[in-house]
Amino acid sequence: MKDKKPRTRLVHGGTKRSQWGEVSEAIFLTQGFVYDTAEQAEQRFIESGPDEYIYARYGNPTVAMFEERIALLEGAEDAFATASGMAAVNGALMSMLRAGDHLVSARALFGSCLYIVEEILPRFGVEVTLVDGANLDAWRAAVRPDTKAVFFESMSNPALELVDIAGVSEIARENNALVVVDNVFSTPVFSDALRQGADVIIYSSTKHIDGQGRTLGGVILGTREHIRKVVEPYMKHTGGSMSPFTAWVQVKGLETLDLRVRAQAQSAQAIADALDGHDALNRVIYPGLPSHPQHGLAQRQMGSGGTMLAIDVKGGKEGAFRFLNALDIVVISNNLGDAKSIATHPSTTTHQRLSEDQRTMLGITDGMVRLSIGLEDTNDLITDLQTALNAV
Ligand SMILES: Cc1ncc(COP(=O)(O)O)c(C=O)c1O
Repeated sequence: MKDKKPRTRLVHGGTKRSQWGEVSEAIFLTQGFVYDTAEQAEQRFIESGPDEYIYARYGNPTVAMFEERIALLEGAEDAFATASGMAAVNGALMSMLRAGDHLVSARALFGSCLYIVEEILPRFGVEVTLVDGANLDAWRAAVRPDTKAVFFESMSNPALELVDIAGVSEIARENNALVVVDNVFSTPVFSDALRQGADVIIYSSTKHIDGQGRTLGGVILGTREHIRKVVEPYMKHTGGSMSPFTAWVQVKGLETLDLRVRAQAQSAQAIADALDGHDALNRVIYPGLPSHPQHGLAQRQMGSGGTMLAIDVKGGKEGAFRFLNALDIVVISNNLGDAKSIATHPSTTTHQRLSEDQRTMLGITDGMVRLSIGLEDTNDLITDLQTALNAV
């Protein structure tokens, strides 16, 4: 499959057929596996080979299909599937860091990611330095010879600020620090993060990979050595593995991922173009617009503006709420990457826990609404959004 194009990898990669020869991937909804003999059980606990399973917390054939398929798309040697995106972020960081280590992290992070780096890691003796992720000089000043890893969202939630993966990786590499990238907003379709220098890539597969708002999941990708020697022991003993049911839903999600994400990004670009300059808006934030301060980086790094945009509605919270309550097709919710377009008011929902100072630092205004563009007809979406803006 390695010589095949991404869409082929997404449809066929990792498929394992049972003795029945089923076309569609089977769900192996089992926690345990039967051994032919006591000797075989003993041997499997000493070392299990490929396609030899012990217990679903360690591995399961349906989960393995999901892991192989996403690893093939990303061009990674291996992957470990997790129970949620946060299990992946926590697992990737906790499995590699020890007391006394130093981590440099971008400060523009999703609230739960910020909680891990600000609250949890320091409890276990990890020193954390937060930097302005868009500023390479800030990374250069913060990364030290004893820095074990750097961590950032390649496109931040919700202000859509990009981090230069190649630039930060070069700085990290000079200090032998590992580069850990939360790539959720960039999506696996627009990712070339490994070639750009990332060592470990994380996705919340709850988002574009499921793509239809059904299941929670996540994945950690990297070298075979890192995934099997560092990540797997931590994950399998602490219980954050993906369930076979989730893997079954999401392995089918992967089949249509490329088509869906490209259609969503195309719509997002058309919507950003149409809303830009609307009287009810202070600003449209979309990396695909030339007005975005990192438009050039977005083109270089992703070749797209992505599927998410943010708008700053005039009139603060009141204006934003009037807009949200006037929407007809776009639903008010807080997931993203879904077939259904979703509008979120970060300052009163996903980022409510943050102080006003933190929100200001992250560029989250009271009028900001995050839009996840779905698969509806683009013109219907533009009409819906413009009608709601006219109501502001
Ligand atoms: C950037 C980012 N990382 C991680 C997560 C966590 O993913 P999950 O909700 O699947 O745990 C999210 C969720 O919104 C996110 O936006």
